[in-house]
Amino acid sequence: LSLALSTIALAFTANTALANCDAGERVVKFSHVTGGTTHPKVVATNELAKRVNTEMNGKLCVEVYPNSTLFGDSKELEALLLGDVQLLAPSLSKFGSYTEKFGVFDLPFIFKDMDHAIRFTNTAEGKDLLNAMKEDIGFVGLGYWMSGMKYFSAKKPLLVPSDASGMKFRVQTSDVAKQMIAAMDASPQAMAFSEVYGALQTGVVDGQENTWSNIYTKKFYEVQDSTTETSHQLLAYLFMTSSEFLDSLSDEDRAQFLAIADDVTQKANLNVKAAEANNRANILKAGGKINTLSPAQRQEWVDAMAPVWKQFERSIGKDLIKAAASS
Ligand code: LMR
Repeated sequence: LSLALSTIALAFTANTALANCDAGERVVKFSHVTGGTTHPKVVATNELAKRVNTEMNGKLCVEVYPNSTLFGDSKELEALLLGDVQLLAPSLSKFGSYTEKFGVFDLPFIFKDMDHAIRFTNTAEGKDLLNAMKEDIGFVGLGYWMSGMKYFSAKKPLLVPSDASGMKFRVQTSDVAKQMIAAMDASPQAMAFSEVYGALQTGVVDGQENTWSNIYTKKFYEVQDSTTETSHQLLAYLFMTSSEFLDSLSDEDRAQFLAIADDVTQKANLNVKAAEANNRANILKAGGKINTLSPAQRQEWVDAMAPVWKQFERSIGKDLIKAAASS
């Protein structure tokens, strides 16, 4: 038992990038689920910690816990409400228990590319959504962090949606994602990110959908036949905190922290395209296979998923869907 415990302790230490906080500094924990060194979320969280720990030295000290080492998907939002963590950046697809509005980000093919999504987040409607959960729940959105477009990987090549018929796909906890998989005549299985590699390896699920950065840094390509360049959905994060944490800061500290948070967000979003291209190339270099689609094949995916929009028109709101689609 003691050997097992020390192995766990060692793994925990190796996976965290803990700052050396000084006595008197307020420790601010940032928990997230992604890993590696080239992932946009890893780069952004480390940059935020570096900036706060230098510019607010003596006041705040950010400790980053990547790879679900502090809290995984199922616990992190609760932990924020309990005050056990102060900063998070969960995927926008993981807020179903708190708001239905975020479903707009999950609608298949609503964003042509990441630039389109960024344009929407800069509209009044997009900015309002940052605080959709502020009053009722106490979640405060500090900014949107883009991660990339998503692609399907599976145990066999997927060129048209009917290739996925009867297969089981891991999805995030998003009702839109579940209906989207059902529209492919396949079955969705919601699962925490930390469990995906094992589930693909053991055949609990046949495929998954994610960005190049997640497929590379979590090595999903090792346990999948190939990934298909569908770009069917966006993956982006809500960089967030709680009202409780913000209210506990002095006016001056809050203003300084918010200014750093905003600056890190702007800069992080400028680097995402390059990170994604780099991790796509890394997958190929590591022996992973990528299927590209002809325009006609791509259109088949668009057509198969089109009915999903109607299913969520009421819960998301027609105007919000229109605002996002036309940004
Ligand atoms: C996933 O669960 O697939 C992603 O949301 C993980 C992440 O945070 O990029």
